[in-house]
Amino acid sequence: MSRVLVVGGGGREHALCWKLAHEAEVVCSPGNPGIEQVADCVPIPAEDGEALTALAVAREVDLVVIGPEAPLIDGLADQMRARGLRVFGPGENGARLEADKGWSKDTMRRAGVPTAAGMTFTESSAAIEWCRARFEEGKGVAVKATGPALGKGVVVAAELELAEATILDWMDSGGMGAAGEKLLLEERLLGREFSLLTLATERGIASLPVAQDYKRLTDGDTGPNTGGMGSFAPAAWVSEGLVLKTEERVVKPLLSELTRAGVPYRGMLFSGLMVVEGEPFCLEYNVRFGDPETQSVLRLMGAGFLDALIGTADGSRPERPDVLPGCSVTVVCAADGYPISPQKGQPITIGNMPEGAVAFHSGTKWDDGSLRVSGGRVVSVSATGPDLASARALAYAGVSEIQYSGKHFRTDIASSGN
Ligand code: AMP
Ligand code: GLY
Repeated sequence: MSRVLVVGGGGREHALCWKLAHEAEVVCSPGNPGIEQVADCVPIPAEDGEALTALAVAREVDLVVIGPEAPLIDGLADQMRARGLRVFGPGENGARLEADKGWSKDTMRRAGVPTAAGMTFTESSAAIEWCRARFEEGKGVAVKATGPALGKGVVVAAELELAEATILDWMDSGGMGAAGEKLLLEERLLGREFSLLTLATERGIASLPVAQDYKRLTDGDTGPNTGGMGSFAPAAWVSEGLVLKTEERVVKPLLSELTRAGVPYRGMLFSGLMVVEGEPFCLEYNVRFGDPETQSVLRLMGAGFLDALIGTADGSRPERPDVLPGCSVTVVCAADGYPISPQKGQPITIGNMPEGAVAFHSGTKWDDGSLRVSGGRVVSVSATGPDLASARALAYAGVSEIQYSGKHFRTDIASSGN
């Protein structure tokens, strides 16, 4: 049997371990109390590249899958490849797509990828001037921290006051730390969003079923942006033609540009897209599986998932794994105060999941034998069914089995899927 090391310890990694455990022996580091049920967890922090590499070598793993962006940005894939390990995930130079939104935008431009007009700024008064001019043209803006900000570094502003306040807070008052010292400002696009998860190498691509994420905290797409409050797949409103167009205009040109620039890419390329008048515009690239898109997408993967990751890590043309019929829906349960200052430490109980539903742990930990909330997104429930409505009902039935004080979830995930 193959052996795989998954690096990370959130809901995305729980879903990866859950899926891979059907085909391989899985080691996960650091893991979490949910992942323990399907993998051997070794508590090494993601920052300790030396120790993670040593673990992969000692366990003689056939594949390492690096889940979160931070270790990819820190060059963990390079470090492990240098030791002869087979790694799914780009090196530090490819991970710059996510580490530096300014560079990512420049790369999109060089590749001719359709994206919102925008500019980077290192000085607040010039940034505010640029916004003022956009609002005078009747447009809104998106203010983006260029450094990694855990999904919280974007404010979409329909009023100049909000744009101005965000710019002053991030650039002049340090409200976003180092990630906010340089900002990317974009014209605001209006349209519907989807996420395309694509296995990518210099030899080809294979996209997984299209997912839709719910970024805003509260029902009706209101409240602040978060890492994601729920997802479903497949997003049937995204036609096959639109997927092909997205691959041709957004995914392939980017990979060609990376190859041209001498940046080999072997891993997941996640494109965040907005459809404006039928055309796909790229909002961002991520260099990893999305969370909570992965939970929904992996529930629909059939045989061949492990082989697809191995082929991608080897730099072959990726094979698309089998896709199961039906739909999946994921609902995230967050902690009170998320995303600004989530309350942690409260005891949590997870009852029996209905058949077809799986609880993926994101922010839980053991404390003296009792399960406690330890992160902003706590547990997500992913359910499958023959159609979206049945998957949705099952996911919410699962959510009602999860108890902790301050539990917050959206009630409208997948309520208008098509
Ligand atoms: P990003 O991290 O760049 O994907 O941005 C997070 C979220 O902000 C996206 O999912 C969109 O909902 C929103 N967003 C980002 N850029 C724009 C834009 N140019 N126009 C409108 N909304 C945007
Ligand atoms: N759900 C969006 C992300 O993973 O960045």
